[in-house]
Parts: sequence; structure tokens; C-alpha cells
Amino acid sequence: MADVQKLMIPDFVQMKKEGKKITEITAYSYPQALLVDEAGIDMILVGDSLGMVELGYAGTTGVTMDEMLEHVKPVVRAVKRCHVVGDMPFMSYNISKEQAITNCGRMFKEGGCDSIKLEGGQDFAPTVQAIVKAGIPVFGHIGLTPQTSSALGGFKVQGKSVDAAKKVLDDAIALDQAGAFAITLEAIPRQLAQIITQKVKCITIGIGGGIECDGQVLVFHDILGLFKRFTPKFVKVYANIWDLELKAVQDYIGEVREKKFPSDEYTFTMKEEALDEIRKYAHI
Ligand code: KIV
Repeated sequence: MADVQKLMIPDFVQMKKEGKKITEITAYSYPQALLVDEAGIDMILVGDSLGMVELGYAGTTGVTMDEMLEHVKPVVRAVKRCHVVGDMPFMSYNISKEQAITNCGRMFKEGGCDSIKLEGGQDFAPTVQAIVKAGIPVFGHIGLTPQTSSALGGFKVQGKSVDAAKKVLDDAIALDQAGAFAITLEAIPRQLAQIITQKVKCITIGIGGGIECDGQVLVFHDILGLFKRFTPKFVKVYANIWDLELKAVQDYIGEVREKKFPSDEYTFTMKEEALDEIRKYAHI
């Protein structure tokens, strides 16, 4: 088998230049990462959406550094080609530059990911600059930022008014100038995402940001119909794996109860002579 070339940040810069779309998806485990890497995805985000889709939390704010690391490590072990982004959980980078560098350093060094992602715009530009200076590539995240969604009024589209759009644009410019190599644009009007994509030199990855972004990201569980609590407008469900899995498990339960499983096909047997001996030995 030919050696698989790992994607590096300059590859994404080149893709932006050439207008080639960048594909990203979340993954949180070894088998999920194996699957999406084999499918040919360019980037995996081990997102803090982990809290909602895998750990059963109501939101993302409860996720800890240790939980993130536990999920980043097997993803990193699984991939051959794609770039792995480790998401920084709420309050792991918000207190000071020193705290941010320490925790991003753990994500990068212990987790082994290729870059880290954090939420926030202009206010976080000095932190981003410090992390980049420490040698860790940073992926920003603006627009709808789930960790602070309650302050934004819930899971709502951002940047719709002129003032709000200017603020999102200024956030993007501040992160770009601080040295972020990429920015997630979540739930903003496509025209605003297009202006940002033209304006910044870093790559833009949309999730509800429209087709003009340099690339797209969606949550693994959302596109496969594995998360039933809610489906945002920007999610396209490509397969209903939940329904397939539910039917398979129900079929298994039914066949066991009806004494149809395990049939001969799934059963081991022994020779009659040996069986006679064993019966005598067991006195039955
Ligand atoms: O945690 C996550 O899955 C994310 C995406 C919504 C981009 O941050």
C-alpha cells in the first residue's frame, strides 16, 4: 500500500488559494476516526460537542480537559491522513494567557493533536497570539459560540444586524491578525461569511456559514442521524444510522426471546462419542 501523506497546514493554505473545498467532521473515538479518515476527510475536530453527543451532558460547558484528552488520544492513534483539531473546553483557556498556554500545551503534547480550537473573537486575540507564539497552531471559532450561547440568547443565528455583522467581521480580522490559521464560522448569514472569507488570509470553515466558506464542518452524530435531541437547520442528515442500529438490536432481542438465535450456524458442537463420555462423567 502506498504511503499516505499526512495533511499539514500549508496544504490547507494552498487549498484556499486554489478554491478547493476543505472537509471537516467531528469524531470522538478510535472507530469513528478510522472511518472518517478512510472516507477521505481532510480534518477531524474532536469537539467539545463530545459532552452532548457522547457523554450525555445538556450542553458543552461541563466538559473537562481530562475528558477531552481521553477522546483526543484514540482519534490521533487512528488517523493516517487527516489533520486532528483538539477543542479546548470551557474555562480551560479563559482565565489567563498562562492558563491557556498550559492547557493548550497539554492538548497538543499529551493529546498529540495537530492544532487546538478555542471559542472567542477580539477579546481572545491576545491569548491566541500567545498560544501561537508558544508554537501551537490555533483554530478560532466565532459567530455562534456554544460555550457562551446563554449570553448570546441561545442557539441563534449571529451577525444579522449591521452592528452585529461588523462585530463578527472584526472578530475574524482580530483572530487572523493574531495568527490563527483557521476560523470556524458558526450560524452566520452566508453573505457575511463570504466577506470574511475574502477578507482574511486564514481558512474559514463554516457550520451554518454557507457555501462560500473555504470548507465545511458538521457533527458526526448529526449527519448520521445518531443524535435525536435536536437537529439545527444547517445540518443535513446523510443516513439514519440510529434507525438501522435500533432495528438490529430489536431483531437480536426478538430472536433470543423466540429461541431463534443462536441457530446451528452460530453454534459449536462436539462428536457423539465424546459426548457419550461427557454425559457418563456428568451422570446425566
Ligand atoms: O464542538 C464542536 O463540535 C464544534 C463544532 C460545532 C464546530 O465546535
